[in-house]
Amino acid sequence: MSRPLRLGLAGLGTVGTGVVRIVQGRAGLLAARAGRAIEIAAVSARRRDRDRGVDLSGYGWEDDPVALAARDDVDVVVELVGGDAGPAKDLVEAAIAHGKDVVTANKAMLALHGQDLAEAAEARGVVLRFEAAVAGGIPCVKALTEGLAGNRIERVMGVMNGTCNYILTRMDSAGLPYDTVFAEAKSLGYLEADPTLDVGGIDAGHKLALLAAIAYGTRVDFGGVALEGIERVSIEDIRRAGDMGFRVKLLGVAQMTGRGLDMRMSPCLVPAGSPLGQLDGATNMVLLEGDAVGRIVLRGAGAGQGPTASAVLSDIVDIARGMRLSTFGQPAASLKTATRASAGTPSPYYLRMDLQDKPGALAKIAACLGDEGISIDRMRQYDHATGTAPVLVVTHRASRPALDRAVEAMAGTGVLVGDPVALRIEEIAD
Ligand code: HSE
Repeated sequence: MSRPLRLGLAGLGTVGTGVVRIVQGRAGLLAARAGRAIEIAAVSARRRDRDRGVDLSGYGWEDDPVALAARDDVDVVVELVGGDAGPAKDLVEAAIAHGKDVVTANKAMLALHGQDLAEAAEARGVVLRFEAAVAGGIPCVKALTEGLAGNRIERVMGVMNGTCNYILTRMDSAGLPYDTVFAEAKSLGYLEADPTLDVGGIDAGHKLALLAAIAYGTRVDFGGVALEGIERVSIEDIRRAGDMGFRVKLLGVAQMTGRGLDMRMSPCLVPAGSPLGQLDGATNMVLLEGDAVGRIVLRGAGAGQGPTASAVLSDIVDIARGMRLSTFGQPAASLKTATRASAGTPSPYYLRMDLQDKPGALAKIAACLGDEGISIDRMRQYDHATGTAPVLVVTHRASRPALDRAVEAMAGTGVLVGDPVALRIEEIAD
């Protein structure tokens, strides 16, 4: 058997400790699969004295994670520090400069600096892998890079933030408003230290940008993701969408269109009977559509100790096996700068509005849609006792600019009470 692969592990939080557990507890299995032993040579964390429930006594210790990069007894640096810059990026850059392979779970760093880091890694002849950065334990980076390498990818879709999916499904099942469920998620420890990373769609947007780079052979373009969080999703919309056969999800979609690369992370309606519509709780789901394979659905835990450490180990085992895969599935220098789609892909929309209950009000609203060439698929008017009529419209496929113009025209009719809510409906077969 070849000599062991020696790890320098930076970050001993939940995921780092999970990696230690697997390396210690599954040594024989890992060695059999990798063809060589996998060992931890040295670790680094903010506090040395904390009891993490694992034995670290046999490992070297570095107060400064960047020092791991220079150690002669480290072959692979495992970066689990987090943060898009600072020590995490310093460590990865130092590791590459010292000729070490790198495994990271850091979506923010790669979404913002992935191209530079991938180019630097390739120039130095080292690998930089990130399975754990996207959807935790779901091997979607591997699926795209390896399993679907023979396909032209038609669409990448997914629920990639478990916290948002927890909040939306709990609002739905318990009939609770956003603020109440947000507080509940916080008390359960689901939210990131900066909750806007979760509920603002940023964390999931980072993940989508990384998958899109692999799927379409383009440079990572987080700035090109049209981002909208879940903060304004109301319990009323969740209920009304349910009445029409939909569920509300924070959905990421990346598609290469004739108008360029369309990437969005936003609250969307999906058919209640579709795999995405049935996804409850803090689970993640990634759907990959390829021209040869059709649709692949991957579902699993998007966070947590075991699932994320499992993904980190998959990259480590690949490196131990001698696999030298490019960071984004093809040489970094060959990745193209994507043209950002000038307008999103047309889709059906859900429109909820309150109308004054008087003759001709509905006709005026319908005319605004008709004037923009938007056809109504379904419509429902709810019980009303107060002089205001709640109305729901599901349109046929329309472009967002046309819909926005129609909504603007509605505001000028004088029959609207308050602002309409417009949510995209993503078309997904059951
Ligand atoms: N906060 C993320 C989530 C996990 O809730 O899915 C880390 O990306």
